[in-house]
Amino acid sequence: MKMDQDADPQLRIGFIGAGNMAFGIAKGMLSGNVLPINIKVSAPSSTNQGRFQELGISVTHSNTEVVSGSDLVFVAVKPHLVPLVLSEVSPHVQQKQIIVSVAAGVTLAVLEELLPENSIVIRLMPNLPCVVQEGALLFARGANAKQEDGAVLRSLLRCCGLVVEGPEAWIDIHTGMSGSGVAFVYLFAEALAEGAVKMGMPSALAHSIASQTVLGAGRLLRDSGKHPAQLRSEVCTPGGTTIYGLHTLEQGGVRASVMSAVESATEKARELGRK
Ligand SMILES: NC(=O)c1ccc[n+]([C@@H]2O[C@H](COP(=O)([O-])OP(=O)(O)OC[C@H]3O[C@@H](n4cnc5c(N)ncnc54)[C@H](OP(=O)(O)O)[C@@H]3O)[C@@H](O)[C@H]2O)c1
Repeated sequence: MKMDQDADPQLRIGFIGAGNMAFGIAKGMLSGNVLPINIKVSAPSSTNQGRFQELGISVTHSNTEVVSGSDLVFVAVKPHLVPLVLSEVSPHVQQKQIIVSVAAGVTLAVLEELLPENSIVIRLMPNLPCVVQEGALLFARGANAKQEDGAVLRSLLRCCGLVVEGPEAWIDIHTGMSGSGVAFVYLFAEALAEGAVKMGMPSALAHSIASQTVLGAGRLLRDSGKHPAQLRSEVCTPGGTTIYGLHTLEQGGVRASVMSAVESATEKARELGRK
């Protein structure tokens, strides 16, 4: 497996937007070798700034202050606000700065159009488990972002989870599978627990066992490197409980439903990108 380098401890990092995603990424970075003193976050209100301050990160209400004092800037506002924010900060963006957008559906072409010519732009799609350093992040480089710019981003995100680079076309697929997929897994965990409650287990216990089951199955899947079908067959004693349960799931069409869910979430992400 490729080992990512440590981040340059001198690198100054900015966040425009102080929401859940900015916080998840910042928290992940701090668990690596990034120092809070090198991070600055802007948001119009103080509502979400306190949790950054608790981590020793400085905050401001000025987006231009963040851009002027950073080598790499994450744009972490809601997608419809990206044009407003980038037109505000654009005059302050310098050629060597790396601008990383996490806004769903906002394409590299749109970002490059909103920023000065030849800007270094990267589009990143994280997911919420970045908050616990178990995110799945895919990024695509813009026309002027070199491989070494991608390497800088990788080094920063090293502790946020799995970080991969791919063509921009994969970003919407990643959004459907992993951004939205987190919610699909929660639905499955909820259904597991409700099944147990139906069979007579107390709800709180059922939910805590369901979350541990999802976590344990996920870790074993990742750490073993085995195909899920292989792990599944290892759990299936002939004529035993698991194969009976799996048969019921297949009769309910769970496999086709999950595939269709990824398909429709991907299509929706593509549709948002066209708007
Ligand atoms: N959440 C996810 O799971 C997820 C996954 C992948 C990608 N994303 C992307 O991440 C981005 C942020 O999502 P989020 O969930 O973190 O949103 P969020 O929690 O609603 O946070 C949005 C932040 O933007 C700030 N903001 C609003 N207007 C601004 C302006 N003019 N200048 C600077 N900051 C401004 C808000 O300020 P206040 O604090 O003052 O309200 C808030 O801190 C979105 O584009 C989304 O597509 C999210």
